Amino acid sequence: MQNQNATGLEAIEAGAHRVSVDEKRMINCRADVNQLLPLKYEWAWEKYLAGCNNHWMPTEVPMGADIALWRHPDGLTADERLMIKRNLGFFATSESLVANNIVLAIYRHITNPECRQYLLRQAFEEAIHTHTFQYIVESLDLDEGELFNMYREVPSITDKAAWALKYTQNLESGHFDTTSREGAQSFLRDLVAFYVVFEGMWFYTGFAQILSLGRQNKMTGIAEMYQYILRDESIHLNFGIDVINQIRHENPELWTNDFEQEVLTMLREAVELEVAYARDTMPRGMLGLNADMCEEYMHFITNRRCAQLGLKELYPGATNPFPWMSEVMDLQKEKNFFETRVTDYRTGGALQWD
Ligand SMILES: [Fe+2]
Ligand SMILES: [Fe+2]
Repeated sequence: MQNQNATGLEAIEAGAHRVSVDEKRMINCRADVNQLLPLKYEWAWEKYLAGCNNHWMPTEVPMGADIALWRHPDGLTADERLMIKRNLGFFATSESLVANNIVLAIYRHITNPECRQYLLRQAFEEAIHTHTFQYIVESLDLDEGELFNMYREVPSITDKAAWALKYTQNLESGHFDTTSREGAQSFLRDLVAFYVVFEGMWFYTGFAQILSLGRQNKMTGIAEMYQYILRDESIHLNFGIDVINQIRHENPELWTNDFEQEVLTMLREAVELEVAYARDTMPRGMLGLNADMCEEYMHFITNRRCAQLGLKELYPGATNPFPWMSEVMDLQKEKNFFETRVTDYRTGGALQWD
């Protein structure tokens, strides 16, 4: 056996004692992980319920207006088309990378059943997000090879994917476990790379780009789908933050000064990669949107993530160039935001997580 952490695959110990709340731990738990109850981490269960309440399918969103606009020679400018395609190309494979990380790297090492319950829900949501890009490619009759290969063919997208992937690769070895400080710190780095950076920073500028077009009544079907993805991702992000903070709380020895500096360096690198991507995606400004605004938004969002992790702000004074984003996030209030069909998805009243 490579380590003694509970995985849930151990031989059944007939008649063994029942698991108590006190025995439950985020990582390195030795007690049976197949007993959801009694719950210890209510926040994980709440997010599982909120995710279920937010269920949606891309195929329920009408694409007629998007198809007409995309096909019309004067429907969109060349810059708008480039931005849309690069944005779709970034997300199309990013959703897979995030899903792979959950299933192949995170799930095994989170030794808590209520968190695993949420991870299973999240994994399905990532499948729905990947489905969204298949649906968009099919609806607009886009070049599927071009879109799904952008992470190998557009350097600024490759750089982002490769940056995150190395943190998954660190966990892939059969010998990896979280019982050593180095192992647990690698695990935390992976959580930062995927939940804080990928889902919590990079996705947000991607959302802002498409939702900005939606506000101009362009590609409103895609914008509506991005609104639902954003709603899902805001819970993913906040789950990740809670996981990181809880692991830190239970294992304070992991969060050394050096480690904190490393995390801050990761966030800074992520901002630089995003700035390069924004310039690649929007070489010139377009109505209401340009690379500088995306950079400023990235600084603003990064400060928010720092605060959630209890870190000092990396970009003091950064302001939000897209104040309307918080409105878009509030689906309950703005179901009809893009003036498309009113879609009666339940929101579960749990949209404060951003
Ligand atoms: Fe996703
Ligand atoms: Fe996600």
